[in-house]
Amino acid sequence: MSRSKIRLGVNVDHVATLRNARGVDYPDPVEAALAAERAGASAITVHLREDRRHIQDGDLLRIRGAIKIHLNQEMAPTTEMLEIALEVRPHEVCLVPERRAELTTEGGLDAAGLGDRLAPIIARLGAARIGVSLFVDPEPHQIEAAARLGADFVELHTGTYATLADADLIEWQSGARPALGAAARAEQAKLRAAIRLARSLKLAPNAGHGLNYRNVAPIAALPGLVWLHIGHAIVARAVSVGMRRAVGEMIALVGASRAGGAANAGLAARATARKISGARPR
Ligand code: PXP
Repeated sequence: MSRSKIRLGVNVDHVATLRNARGVDYPDPVEAALAAERAGASAITVHLREDRRHIQDGDLLRIRGAIKIHLNQEMAPTTEMLEIALEVRPHEVCLVPERRAELTTEGGLDAAGLGDRLAPIIARLGAARIGVSLFVDPEPHQIEAAARLGADFVELHTGTYATLADADLIEWQSGARPALGAAARAEQAKLRAAIRLARSLKLAPNAGHGLNYRNVAPIAALPGLVWLHIGHAIVARAVSVGMRRAVGEMIALVGASRAGGAANAGLAARATARKISGARPR
């Protein structure tokens, strides 16, 4: 399986969150997208939510017109969103579940249970030559359903891994335990198996959600991943060091983990944890 270069998609939703908190016109997600592009990102990801809590319709159109790299539009599988995607024509649409009360996307799409609803949307996006990705948990039956429905990609939900790994890595930095505990390693293994299954079904596997500078290395090291989509951690880091540097640091970290595979993932994470937090992991 290839260890080829992994591509980073930067999600700029939370630049809009900050702007909307005051009802002003700054910071501008378009500027952030352009800074991410200049820093070497391969894609910009935006989630146009039904409640428009961060990205607005105009942001999506302006980003589409401004960037030269790939645009990945995350959206709920609804008629309204389908019509918008067909008008905006992003390179790729990632279908995600959406619940209004959630803080962020909480779980993967039930591709296996929602086939009747998803099939016509996937067909129309495909006919418009828009790549289709389904955001799913790393469960075999969901990946098999995505393949049956004719998706091009699956984006594997890394949220469970990220939550487990973050707790482990905080203890690890104080020297209290090995880098990843058994539960995080089991979730990493699940993601590895999901990547293999997706590839065997001719789906291109992507991953994202909850990834940050501390926990990304063991995921970036998994062979066969095509894209990583990361948002909150990069935008949060950009508050301290600027978007260009925040994106550059993530690209360097992902590249280093990738080059060395799983064995180097710990080293890359360790070096970055030290550089970014000033911590001295043992
Ligand atoms: N991938 C998908 C499908 C998402 O819904 C999100 C959150 O919008 C992300 C990736 C990025 O997650 P995070 O902001 O935690 O990096």
